[in-house]
Amino acid sequence: MTDRYQGFVASPVGKFLVKNLGLPSPVALDRYVEGAPLVDGTVLVGGTGRLVEQLPEVLDGLGITATTTREDGATYKGLVLDATGLTSAAELGALRDFFTPVLRSLAPCTHVVVLGTPPETTGSTGERIAQRALEGFTRSLGKEIGRGSTVQLVYVAPGAEGAVDSTLAFFLSPKSAYVSGQVVRVGTTGSTTAEPVADPTEPLAGKVALVTGASRGIGEQIARVLHRDGATVVGVDVPQAASDLVALVKELDGDHIALDITAPDAPQRIAHHVKEKHGGVDIVVHNAGITRDKKLANMGEDRWDSVIAVNVSAPELITAELLEQDAIRPNGRIIGVASIAGIAGNVGQTNYAASKAGVIGLVDALAPTLSDGITVNAVAPGFIVTQMTAAVPFATREVGQRLNAMAQGGLPVDVAETIAWYASPGSTAVNGNVVRVCGQMMLGA
Ligand SMILES: NC(=O)c1ccc[n+]([C@@H]2O[C@H](COP(=O)([O-])OP(=O)(O)OC[C@H]3O[C@@H](n4cnc5c(N)ncnc54)[C@H](O)[C@@H]3O)[C@@H](O)[C@H]2O)c1
Repeated sequence: MTDRYQGFVASPVGKFLVKNLGLPSPVALDRYVEGAPLVDGTVLVGGTGRLVEQLPEVLDGLGITATTTREDGATYKGLVLDATGLTSAAELGALRDFFTPVLRSLAPCTHVVVLGTPPETTGSTGERIAQRALEGFTRSLGKEIGRGSTVQLVYVAPGAEGAVDSTLAFFLSPKSAYVSGQVVRVGTTGSTTAEPVADPTEPLAGKVALVTGASRGIGEQIARVLHRDGATVVGVDVPQAASDLVALVKELDGDHIALDITAPDAPQRIAHHVKEKHGGVDIVVHNAGITRDKKLANMGEDRWDSVIAVNVSAPELITAELLEQDAIRPNGRIIGVASIAGIAGNVGQTNYAASKAGVIGLVDALAPTLSDGITVNAVAPGFIVTQMTAAVPFATREVGQRLNAMAQGGLPVDVAETIAWYASPGSTAVNGNVVRVCGQMMLGA
């Protein structure tokens, strides 16, 4: 599914009209290519605080070239500012001092990360103000930086300084091409350490990943990316989709379960299957989802019930059964797929938005209760180009695609890469987060 508008603006006539009419001009985003270095260029590191000294070594360990000295005329592909040392509003000028001189010399699709201290863990009013201020700063810079670049704020809890590698690897690389303006917390709930990654080219080697709704769309791409990272994928989908599902898992050398996740015995069957055939599961991705849109005034019971059942009750019941049966191994990952609709709301989607906000509730409820390094997080996709969004009427689809800082829809791989970051052994301290994969959509921001 190509983005025809993006093709048009790249044409000579399109370029002329974009310039003269002030139309949105989407940039072709860099995306990660297997085997390529994480960052194709140099990352400038600066700031003061708990992390700055270790950053060059951390980035070096990830194969990323970093420098702490800004050179006039140099072009950067990534910026990392340690802002954990800021303890008052008066010190916020350090943000301007670091960024303003370099913003004009960034390569397209540059990735920017600001590191902060979770405001709730700060020691004084001034520090809390300064750390909270980072949110407004990063979200605004994300909206104005342009040219396909991204900006994130990563709050690192005191004590979790050694657990930031997987998060930096994701947010500095094109794996996070369509993620911007996000605020992530590392080490605030549960573990403050990370499991070492034995082989960075296959961080999920030896892991078993269950992916629901795997036969097509975002689920298929999640299966492919987790397989790329070394996992054995167990795909789940409805029996009607079994032929596509079987073809996919055959290609990925994986396994499948053809069932409706809302069937009363689905949680038990899934738990039984992964225990019997794989001795348990390491990664559970609740991706299967449906829409049955109607304004609430016209909403039949069936539309309401089916959406709640597939999108939130099934993930809740399957997770509960897997935990109850100890089927999720230590350092396991539970990953929900919410939606921007669950955050911003959407006309005709009271059922869908309720179900997707419920997925966020599931993350909130479980995150503080899990042990053995098991985490729970969610992605909230914005406009992702799939068969689900192909069914959206043309005008709504066009507006939906452009109303974000990237002026384009995302790809299933953008959601899949975000899930792979959560799934990484290095992300044990990443727990209780909901990250939007929405190109920093203007809605619900
Ligand atoms: N495409 C988007 O823009 C977008 C945006 C936000 C959220 N999402 C969410 O991402 C997820 C994947 O979306 P998609 O666009 O790939 O959708 P899709 O319709 O292309 O794929 C969904 C898959 O889930 C499966 N499924 C549905 N009901 C099931 C059931 N009862 N049991 C087992 N499998 C079932 C389907 O057969 C299908 O293979 C969904 O949860 C969706 O709500 C998508």
